[in-house]
Amino acid sequence: MLRGKHIVLGVTGGIAAYKSCYLLRELQREGATVRVVMTDAAARFVTPLTFSALSGQEVYTDLWTANQSTGSNIGTQHIDLANWADALLIAPASANTIAKLTVGLSDNLLTIVTLATRRPVILAPTMDADMYLNEITQQNLVTLRARGYAVIPAGEGEHASGLKGPGRLPEIDVIIRFVAGVLDKTFLDLTAKKILVTAGPTYESIDPVRFIGNRSSGKMGFAIAQAAALRGAEVTLIAGPVQLETPRNVKRIDVESAEQMQKAVSAEAKKADAVFMAAAVADFTPQTPSRAKIKKDVRSKNLDLHLTATPDILGTLGGKKNGTVLVGFALETDNELTHAKEKLKSKNLDLIVLNSLADEGAGFGVDTNVVTIIERNGHAKKLKKMAKFDVANEILNRVKNLFQHRDE
Ligand code: CTP
Repeated sequence: MLRGKHIVLGVTGGIAAYKSCYLLRELQREGATVRVVMTDAAARFVTPLTFSALSGQEVYTDLWTANQSTGSNIGTQHIDLANWADALLIAPASANTIAKLTVGLSDNLLTIVTLATRRPVILAPTMDADMYLNEITQQNLVTLRARGYAVIPAGEGEHASGLKGPGRLPEIDVIIRFVAGVLDKTFLDLTAKKILVTAGPTYESIDPVRFIGNRSSGKMGFAIAQAAALRGAEVTLIAGPVQLETPRNVKRIDVESAEQMQKAVSAEAKKADAVFMAAAVADFTPQTPSRAKIKKDVRSKNLDLHLTATPDILGTLGGKKNGTVLVGFALETDNELTHAKEKLKSKNLDLIVLNSLADEGAGFGVDTNVVTIIERNGHAKKLKKMAKFDVANEILNRVKNLFQHRDE
């Protein structure tokens, strides 16, 4: 799968560093030539000699020492390595190295080469489950993905510490297939698919200063847009008022109210192969927003706002469905499955993604989620707590299957 490819294998500190020895062997077996760069922390877990013996090349460990095997000049060897590589694979990628890369720190040979290379950078984040699920790590991964880094979903299972959860180094064959996919772009499995995503809250004006809103951060919708774009889809993202960076290769349309969102969706949905309504659209809006700021009347203790229902954007799409895959989201606090299934039916959806506020690690603002994906036939699968980006890929995998059935 990797015949003739040049891979720089970056190894960072962590107990999984020993698995990189096997990874190195497999990369070579698949036809790649590998040069290994280790951080100081990695060299505490496995000696450079091991990698050197396996790769037949001196291992790069020190910024200030020239590599004898390649005869590189000390002053330029980081650039030589960055140019030599067809891809840079950092496995295991520790929380520390991920954090450094996020802010552009270049304090060792590996981080310098990563900063210098124009070739694909592939990360296999590997750390204890709690470190992996920590908001800081997840935020860093969101940022790195937005900049075009390919991040392999972490493996699940038991850690050396005894903790269970995500953060293990993925199986070697998963890494190899991922690297091969990045190099020949076969991971672009949604190429030519047009995907419409909505995200965030809507703001309904009470007067020029005040609004009715909700606590949606937009992170789930942005993660779907980002994951779909990385898989090659043509993505349009209709965003309510949120503080999030637009993912790369995504066309973004900003809206504020439910009415504006509906206009944007109805214009864009016609072209879409799939619509993901992750936005938390307000169900009611002030009937007549005041043109001037409402002043408080000191004599009255109450202010009555008359609210009227907003259009059900997704329900309207479901009512005139024509082969577009429709995915809805439901946030429930009680009788969750029953309510979500009712929504799936009444809005004529293909999938509904249920969020339960009761679950730890789910809900507003955080980068992880705990969801149940419900299909039209009523089949419901509750996923473990995982990064919103990984949830996005799980949802996209199912939608990809629906495309396949539709196209058959
Ligand atoms: N939705 C929509 N237009 C609206 C309201 C919601 O398209 N005016 C979409 C949401 O984006 C989401 C799904 O419908 O995908 C949620 O269903 P809905 O029944 O509206 O959920 P809630 O607003 O939470 O309804 P309820 O208050 O009855 O639970």
